[in-house]
Amino acid sequence: MSALTIPIRKFDAVIVGAGGAGLRAAIQLSEAGLKTAVLSKVFPTRSHTVAAQGGVSASLGNSEEDHWHWHMYDTVKGSDWLGDQDAIEYMCRKAPEAVVELEHFGMPFDRTDEGKIYQRPFGGHMSNFGEKPVRRACAAADRTGHAMLHALYQRNVRANTQFFVEWMALDLIRNAQGQILGVIALEMETGQVVAFHAKATIIATGGAGRIYHSSTNAFINTGDGLGMAARAGIALEDMEFWQFHPTGVAGAGVLITEGVRGEGGILRNSDNERFMERYAPNAKDLASRDVVSRAMVTEINEGRGCGPHKDFVLLDITHLDPATIMKRLPGIRDISIQFAGIDPIKAPIPVVPTCHYMMGGIPTNYHGQVVNADGSVVAGFYAAGEAACASVHGANRLGTNSLLDLLVFGKASGDSVVDAVKKNGAAHQDLPADFAERTLSRLDRLNTQKGGASVDETRLAMQRTMQKHCGVFRFKDMLVEGVAKICEIEQAVHATEIGDKSQTWNTARVEALELDNLIEVAKSTMVSAEARRESRGAHVRDDAPDTPAHPNGRDDEAWLKHSLWHREGSTLSYKPVVLTPLSVETIALKTRAY
Ligand code: FUM
Repeated sequence: MSALTIPIRKFDAVIVGAGGAGLRAAIQLSEAGLKTAVLSKVFPTRSHTVAAQGGVSASLGNSEEDHWHWHMYDTVKGSDWLGDQDAIEYMCRKAPEAVVELEHFGMPFDRTDEGKIYQRPFGGHMSNFGEKPVRRACAAADRTGHAMLHALYQRNVRANTQFFVEWMALDLIRNAQGQILGVIALEMETGQVVAFHAKATIIATGGAGRIYHSSTNAFINTGDGLGMAARAGIALEDMEFWQFHPTGVAGAGVLITEGVRGEGGILRNSDNERFMERYAPNAKDLASRDVVSRAMVTEINEGRGCGPHKDFVLLDITHLDPATIMKRLPGIRDISIQFAGIDPIKAPIPVVPTCHYMMGGIPTNYHGQVVNADGSVVAGFYAAGEAACASVHGANRLGTNSLLDLLVFGKASGDSVVDAVKKNGAAHQDLPADFAERTLSRLDRLNTQKGGASVDETRLAMQRTMQKHCGVFRFKDMLVEGVAKICEIEQAVHATEIGDKSQTWNTARVEALELDNLIEVAKSTMVSAEARRESRGAHVRDDAPDTPAHPNGRDDEAWLKHSLWHREGSTLSYKPVVLTPLSVETIALKTRAY
């Protein structure tokens, strides 16, 4: 195949990914009359947003007093002060509106006795600037993401959004002036390659938790948008920061929502002790996720884990009324029975911290526009949701801020595209002559490569390396070794062999193409983590311990800055964190404790 034979389809905008962020953006575009294509590897309502359980945060104050300022304070503190405060302020101010809008789209939230949207406590959600827990997570039982995704999809059907289901975007089209002009994509069933030529491109491909061996993420979460961006010369921001959710089912990794602890669940060690009282005397089991995950790993490492191998702790809800469990947490009861063989009404659930969320991603401002390392905007290019780094989560995300992020920045990116398309007029920019070159050579390699390792073996080697060398606790020597190992695995990725080409299904090609993206994410993570010589949020290193000069190991003088990983040469640069005037009074830097 040559570039000349690739069919070209023209749209005003193309969105890659049909999870919450992509669908929310698409509503803005389609309702504004833009011709919009949404590409997705799976049917939209099977996107990974469907797995979000516990809630979406908004300071509605339906059960007790709450304010967006308190939400902002909690988010800045949760981020260990690495979040950009302009973006955090924007998100927290917009949250009530975003949730009410969703309700008007038909989202079936649970209700309080007065008929208001039901809200539950979640980790790090506090009132009055960190004083005591507040109910801020708006929930539809423990299936909030599922309900949200269906409401957003239905609204898109009404707006005539055009979906391309089981299409995988492979590469961005970028011209010599640096503008993004669409994507090249593969129809997974037929293998047909098509150029989607667009005035605007939004990446909403979600996370990339599959770089780790144990993850709550779906198999589709392979960082496709990040791989595409990196190959197109866009630096990736804050990739060292990954969230390990405290409660993945031991041995299976499936998520047990933090909403369980919000409803009163307690973590216990082998002595039956509620150990979080020692680590977070105020918030206890509802401390921020990085704090809880580290406490759990410490308990296990110090011999107080449970089970024959002492390698998990227990999440106990046996003291809750079974009626509450059936009403508020029916999904986690099912998950626990299916994946742990335990009915949580009768016995505690075995849990371990499991890779859950990527705080870093494609750098954007809070309008959803992708920004270059020098702060300029990349024309025609937008990102939202987990694939983007706005940066509202900084070094650690608060639970339920992910669903809020994708609603607020999905909409913001959509609004930015509508404005830009209206301003720039009807014409598409010309495609460069070599627009398909990189993609065609990647596809060609898959068809001709002989003698390399298999995709499965190579992916497993990458996942094991990430898990061992870049997990909940990080060690200087392991990180150095990890960089060398990941670079070796990268070579193997570029020489994988997909077997007898005449017998090969496109799914094998898709897995190889996904691995191209995963390795970019894994490498940027390991390199950025090795370079950041402090502890902050989810990034905690043995050579940056808690000292009086640097409480919790955080070093603001040297490291209060975002990292940017550049694929070309695998180098790093840094940019400042955005502080706002509000921060001077209420959220000035201080030591983080719960
Ligand atoms: O625990 C949970 O329900 C996950 C929510 C989140 O990651 O925001």
